[in-house]
Amino acid sequence: MESLSVLLLHPFNAYLEQELDRRCRLIRFWESPPERRDEFLRAHAGSIRAVVGNANHGADAKLIDALPALEIVASFSVGIDRVDLAKCRERGIRVTNTPDVLTDDVADLAVGLAIAVLRRIPQADRHVRTGQWKAKGDFTLTTRGVLINVGCGAHVDEPELVSALVEKRLGGAGLDVYEHEPFAPEQLFGLDNVVVVPHVGSDTEETCMAMADLFSGKKVGIIGLGRIGLAIAKRVEAFDCPVNYYQRTKQAYPNYTYYPSVVELAANSDVLVVACPLNANTRHIVNREVMEALGPKGVLINIGRGPHVDEPEMVSALLDGRLGGAGLDVFEDEPNVPEALFALDNVVLVPHVGSATHETRTAMADLVLGNLEAHVLNKPLLTPVV
Ligand code: DGY
Repeated sequence: MESLSVLLLHPFNAYLEQELDRRCRLIRFWESPPERRDEFLRAHAGSIRAVVGNANHGADAKLIDALPALEIVASFSVGIDRVDLAKCRERGIRVTNTPDVLTDDVADLAVGLAIAVLRRIPQADRHVRTGQWKAKGDFTLTTRGVLINVGCGAHVDEPELVSALVEKRLGGAGLDVYEHEPFAPEQLFGLDNVVVVPHVGSDTEETCMAMADLFSGKKVGIIGLGRIGLAIAKRVEAFDCPVNYYQRTKQAYPNYTYYPSVVELAANSDVLVVACPLNANTRHIVNREVMEALGPKGVLINIGRGPHVDEPEMVSALLDGRLGGAGLDVFEDEPNVPEALFALDNVVLVPHVGSATHETRTAMADLVLGNLEAHVLNKPLLTPVV
């Protein structure tokens, strides 16, 4: 491959970059400042025969048009939504991706996110790291804090709560449960910072470690039962979770329940996982109606692509409590993440790391290299898309 000039769009994998450098003529796109990219491409246009991109850095029409000698686009990703496939077909440019080797990784992350959201693992981790557990136990007695208890009276040390409120070490309380029901401590009746109906105060999450929810047995709805969707189904079956699914071209699976629309799937699931490819049909496949069907106890997991979900709608559904929680690996405008999500404890955010393990990323790099080699040697491509 020594004579093959390869344009690598981004430094996303050190091993791949090193091997491309060793085996081909490597051109690093990021070495040219963004404002001089056109000039840079003009200088290399005649020689670049291959482009290597990934999930976020693809070969769009502008790039393809700028490279008249381009023969192959090898994507370091399974999703090829960033590659202009129509343009590639028109020009006879070959396209490859990296399927299969990342299936387990992405499925592991989907299940991990669902468990993290329901079991509130990041919140529990913060509770320990910030010293809350050791210093204050399950709730914090600060003058600003407001304690809401809609769980069970026995969760709270009631005499301690009463004295904290009377001595103004605690800012207020909203209670609908008591230690010795039907009796509520009479000292509370005279306090105007105490309400005896549930009332969600904005400081509550800061001061309390909220109860978590069980994952085992939850109904899991999967949008797209391809390689990754099936790997997720296999994993959640082991948690005794009934599996529901939606797919555009229905294939029957005896152990899984098919729903003919995403809204019906959401209405019949506790956890909804997006695992289909992104294309014109699946853009915003999770819209307001779907999120409303999933409901205030439902959890949305997106390990597909950000544009699968109507992000502003999701943010407002989470903020209003119309959606119960979310575990997100992908976002509409990566690496930008809606800041409103940062304050929500029922949301777990990770930076598009579905395939980011040492083993998988190396296997993906080897596939990219294998495809380029096959192309140069005029052999069948390992994982052709076009
Ligand atoms: C892919 O390869 O398409 C995935 O997004 C990687 O996480």
